[in-house]
Amino acid sequence: MKDTTDHIVDPSYDFTAQPGFEHGDERPSNFSRNPTFYDVVEARVSRRGVLAGGLSAAVTGLFAGGVSLLAAKKASAAPAMMGFEPVMMSTADAITVPEGYTAQVLVPWGTPISGDMPAFRPDNTGAEQGHQIGMHHDGMHFFPVDGSSTDGYLVLNHEYIEPRYLHGSWAGMELDGDTVVYTGDDTRADDEVLKEMNAHGVSIVRVTADADGTWSVVADPLNRRVTALTPMEITGPVRGSAHVVTKFSPDGTMTRGTINNCANGFTPWGTYLTCEENWAGYFTNTDAEQPREHARFGVSDEARGGRYGWHLAAGGAEEYTRFNAAATGASASEDYRNEPNTFGYVVEIDPRDPESVPVKRTHLGRFAHEGVVFGPFAAGAPIVAYAGDDSRFEYIYKFVSSAAYDPETTDGTILDEGTLYAARFNDDGSGEWLALAPGENGLTPENGFADLADILVNTRLAADTAGATKMDRPEWGAVHPQTGEVYFALTNNSRRIQAEVNMANPRALNEWGHIIKWTEAGDDHAATTFAWDLFVVAGDEKRSATLTGQPLDDTNAFACPDGISFDQDGRLWIQTDIGEDAQVGSLADFGNNAMLCADPVTGEIRRFLTGPLGQEITGWTETPDGQTMFINVQHPGGTTTAEDFAAGTFTSNWPDATAGAKPRSSTVVVRKTGGGVIGS
Ligand code: FEO
Ligand code: CA
Ligand code: CA
Repeated sequence: MKDTTDHIVDPSYDFTAQPGFEHGDERPSNFSRNPTFYDVVEARVSRRGVLAGGLSAAVTGLFAGGVSLLAAKKASAAPAMMGFEPVMMSTADAITVPEGYTAQVLVPWGTPISGDMPAFRPDNTGAEQGHQIGMHHDGMHFFPVDGSSTDGYLVLNHEYIEPRYLHGSWAGMELDGDTVVYTGDDTRADDEVLKEMNAHGVSIVRVTADADGTWSVVADPLNRRVTALTPMEITGPVRGSAHVVTKFSPDGTMTRGTINNCANGFTPWGTYLTCEENWAGYFTNTDAEQPREHARFGVSDEARGGRYGWHLAAGGAEEYTRFNAAATGASASEDYRNEPNTFGYVVEIDPRDPESVPVKRTHLGRFAHEGVVFGPFAAGAPIVAYAGDDSRFEYIYKFVSSAAYDPETTDGTILDEGTLYAARFNDDGSGEWLALAPGENGLTPENGFADLADILVNTRLAADTAGATKMDRPEWGAVHPQTGEVYFALTNNSRRIQAEVNMANPRALNEWGHIIKWTEAGDDHAATTFAWDLFVVAGDEKRSATLTGQPLDDTNAFACPDGISFDQDGRLWIQTDIGEDAQVGSLADFGNNAMLCADPVTGEIRRFLTGPLGQEITGWTETPDGQTMFINVQHPGGTTTAEDFAAGTFTSNWPDATAGAKPRSSTVVVRKTGGGVIGS
């Protein structure tokens, strides 16, 4: 029987108290037809002509569709997919892993890696921070030295900062997690701005394991920090266009820094890709009317706008004030009105050369780039990269290179020429890739798109025009190493109302998220059509469904999938990010953010790891032998109130575990006691 009483949202539900609801949001008012997820399932199943014999059969019918059967057919005989007992939800200020596993903290924020290796102190200077691991670890990749599984370079993103923990002199002040301290006349102290910029970006650090499997940092000439100040080259169609002319680079070929580096990618030619996600919030533009290149991404229009007020640095140095994107000069080459147009990209970094200049690859589009993940690299075939735009109602994209991959000669320049597409998910389970190219899908001068550079700088508007499907916040993607199936996490979207529900985003007020997957037509990643299905719909026992139609339970219930990664055997690792202020209401019952392991063939999911208080689990990489896994714990203690911060009482003291210790984002190394492939 279809459960008609279990509404996803009932009329008495206090939407205004939920995460994602902000001042100015209109409270949803249409509760007259709120079909549950199961109604959507039933509609989809009947459309497919599957015999629906009640709720469970209907749900099973949806999830046991052709795509998963294809996976079952193609997956190779793999080692044991899940040879561990699931861990239970946790509200402890600690990491928990299954019996037989160990978890070691590595490279917490402030760890010295370069220069004169300045030791971590709460009052480190801005310059010292430039030689230390940054804050708020996110996506990362392990680059082995000569294929080693005990020696390599860990390259990791630092997404953003929590200023109150960053600045030692702010101890005792009543500060929440976002607030920065201004001096009396609305200026920021220069060295604080420098420290904040140096705590952003990317770290490249050599790490090795001893005979016991304990990892540590090695002082190495390739260790390097890339920060919000590092000079970078702009390549691809936007290079040299009027959109990116600035006082720093009048010919539009260079910019400085990368910010809000969320997830990542890596290439077979040995480079690391870091993705600029919520960069728009760092800028402000108080001009009477913002250009669409700013407005469509949410650049602030307030004088004190800009996430950390960097543009108000007291000394007025241009490397700081450029975050003011107002037209203050006579022309674009005399101010920084175009500075925001130099952010929002995938940035390629060569960890083997500390002198190399990072490159912003503009053909992969400009948006809130969560991450980037490649399809299989096959000699003679184009390179295909998938990327999500993590904002409510934004899109999933893919880039297909013009040139074919050649293992001998290909380098990053292959990412500078090709076609960017946006995804349309049809309700019948089919999908289309809509080319974002001049003359295609309405992208003409008559419709306001002058050329390819204009399309790419305005990627979101181009995808709007092309008719892509508005998704529930696309986060990480992952490509199955054997079947080539593409998975994407859709973390949540509490603003989707019933009238906006579609089959790929099947819930109104979706606070728990889901994971979608698809197979490209003919198993060709360059294809322009695909077949999609849902892998898991997250939530508690009443509001979830796995691949087999079973609800999640206490061994695997989760909400807000964010990081997803396949290991080399095809286990899908799912990391959760219930917003740090949001473990309340309908999200109160999931415990601390966690990492789960899923079998993509059977759909089984087990909770593998839980994190400390106030954090999210994010970032994933493994050694070539699969016996060491690195994950990140980001923003522990983020739930500390302003009053408790003033009192020096933090919700988390992880990883130091001593009362009063500052919580610090860190990498965590997971190993099996005595060795063995993680998860097996
Ligand atoms: Fe940086 Fe969408 O998480
Ligand atoms: Ca994320
Ligand atoms: Ca997230």
